[in-house]
Amino acid sequence: MTQMQVSIEPIAVPAGLDAPGAADFVAVAELFNAQQQEFWGNNDFYGPPQAQLAGRGSTPTRRRELLAARAGADIVGVAQINLPLTDNLHSGTVDIVVAPSARRRGVGTRLYAAAEQLAVVDNRRMLMAETDHLLSGEPAGPFAGNASLVPQDAAALFASALGFRLELVDRVSRLELGSPADDEAVLEQARTAAGAGYELVFWSGACPEDLIAAYARLRQKMSTDAPMGGLDLAEEVWDEARVREAEGLARDMDAEVLVSAARHVATGELAGHTVLEVFRNNPAVVYQDDTLVLEGHRGNRLGMLLKAANLVRLREAVPEALRVYTWNAEENRHMLSINERLGFRAIGYSGEWQKELSAE
Ligand SMILES: CC(C)(COP(=O)(O)OP(=O)(O)OC[C@H]1O[C@@H](n2cnc3c(N)ncnc32)[C@H](O)[C@@H]1OP(=O)(O)O)[C@@H](O)C(=O)NCCC(=O)NCCS
Repeated sequence: MTQMQVSIEPIAVPAGLDAPGAADFVAVAELFNAQQQEFWGNNDFYGPPQAQLAGRGSTPTRRRELLAARAGADIVGVAQINLPLTDNLHSGTVDIVVAPSARRRGVGTRLYAAAEQLAVVDNRRMLMAETDHLLSGEPAGPFAGNASLVPQDAAALFASALGFRLELVDRVSRLELGSPADDEAVLEQARTAAGAGYELVFWSGACPEDLIAAYARLRQKMSTDAPMGGLDLAEEVWDEARVREAEGLARDMDAEVLVSAARHVATGELAGHTVLEVFRNNPAVVYQDDTLVLEGHRGNRLGMLLKAANLVRLREAVPEALRVYTWNAEENRHMLSINERLGFRAIGYSGEWQKELSAE
């Protein structure tokens, strides 16, 4: 098909939805939403533009840029670029969406070229991107091992055509929340197995002051302890300010964040944590975020204990919650087993891709 003539331009995140320039931002936000709705066939991942105002802006730890492809008056494509500012300064991530009516006409390639240019100017040498694939997609690509779970659909072929390599495959799973008794039974089993050496601590929103340094260490460890395949990512740097930044961002996005942590009674050390996130605009849908047990504390059923306990709490705190989504590396057998025991079922796969940029 013929190429589409577009101009690529930056879109600023406005101060509010009625500020000058906000109409372009809202068009971009709705383009992301339309793609989510097209992909999932439901509105589970709808992000109100007001929440995207917070989610798509820069913060002290992350520079975020939006580029739009404009054809006449219409925005027909968008790229979001994320550039970490406190660690992994060699890297960045890019996410591209093109409106269905403008696809296969070079718009995605133009957006990517502009995004890559921006990353190169910022001295980044590695770009990462993610592709999502529902289980009903075409089976098996020419990749080895877990990679064969990623179908050769538009997203995967687009990433390959741009020079990205598939480095990690995540399983996307969903839990339909059934009877509360199910979680309570699992929780009791895990509590018995973990014994009296650990106690659970819960918070919602803000981490208690006396735990924040320990919690920052857990968040930092999360960046290295989950399998990463061939992704060229180094340990993140987390401190108290970064924890508070993440909590503030969640608040601005109207999200409720439920954290369960396990404290080792003998030493007072935090041994692990798990995080659930619910957006107030759609409390039926819950996201499973981090789950981590520190190395020295593994093998004590803490992973199961933490997750079952947080699900029990979720039901009390957010009775409207109906389903939980989670992403786990396909090679992360321990985490997948816990999730399967809790009732999560695979619904798709997500590819994590990487491209080394040449500094020309
Ligand atoms: C993936 C996506 C961004 C591609 O945008 P696009 O503007 O259609 O891409 P381009 O026209 O620049 O395509 C570039 C190359 O990618 C490959 N490609 C893209 N879409 C394809 C498709 N449907 N089937 C086969 N190959 C495809 C081709 O190699 C194509 O080159 P060609 O047309 O000369 O053969 C678009 O389909 C989209 O928005 N999908 C939903 C969101 C998404 O999956 N984003 C990807 C995140 S990395």
